[in-house]
Amino acid sequence: MSIKVIDLYCGLGGWTTGLLENNIEVTGYDIVDFSDKYPSKFVKADLLTYNNFDNCDIIVASPPCTDFTKSSFPKTWRVVKDYPPDIPSAMKLFNRVYEIVDIVKPVYYLIENVRGAQKYVGKAKFHIGSRYFWGTFPNFTVTNKEDIYGKSYVAPSKDRPAIRAKIPLSISRAFAKTIIERFKQYETGD
Ligand SMILES: C[S@@+](CC[C@H](N)C(=O)[O-])C[C@H]1O[C@@H](n2cnc3c(N)ncnc32)[C@H](O)[C@@H]1O
Repeated sequence: MSIKVIDLYCGLGGWTTGLLENNIEVTGYDIVDFSDKYPSKFVKADLLTYNNFDNCDIIVASPPCTDFTKSSFPKTWRVVKDYPPDIPSAMKLFNRVYEIVDIVKPVYYLIENVRGAQKYVGKAKFHIGSRYFWGTFPNFTVTNKEDIYGKSYVAPSKDRPAIRAKIPLSISRAFAKTIIERFKQYETGD
C-alpha cells in the first residue's frame, strides 16, 4: 500500500517524522528553507501563491498560530500592545489550506492550530492538549502523552521557535497508524 502525504507549513517536520516511520511518502512545503533539517522531500515555497502540487492522498497543515495565540492574551500585556495580533494575515494562511485542498482534492485533510483560532475559523473537530484539529480525517487517540504534557526545555537558538512549534511524535505516530488502518479497510472493502 502506498500513501502519499503533503505536509503544508512543514517546519522541521513533526507530522512528517511520524508518517515516515510508518512508510508513508511525504513532501513538505515551507517558506523558510528547512531543506537541511527536514526529514523528507522538501519544497521551499510561499504557500499563499504556490500552486504546483503533486497529487496526494492526504494533506496535513500547521499554519502559523502566533497571532491567534496572542489574540487570547489580555490586551494590557506589553507583548500585545507592542506587537498586536494580525488576525487577517493569520486567517489568510489558515484559509489558504482550504484552497489547496480544493486544488489537490486529497481523500482527507487535517489542519492543526491553537484553541484561540476557533473564534475566527470555527470550532475544531477535537484536540489533544494544546493542539486543535480541523478537517475530514478519521479521529485518532494518543495513549502515551509524555511528549505532549511533559515540560521540555529548549535552549535559545535560531531554531528555537521551529523546535517549539514541532508536532509531538506521539501525535504524528497515532495519526499515521489510524490513516494506515483506514486505507487498509478501503483496500479490503471492510
Ligand atoms: C507552526 S509552524 C509548523 C510546525 C510544523 N508542523 C512542525 O511540526 O515542525 C508554521 C510554519 O509555517 C511557515 N510559514 C509561514 N508563512 C508561510 C508561507 N506564506 N508559506 C509557507 N510556509 C509558511 C513557517 O516558516 C513555519 O515553519
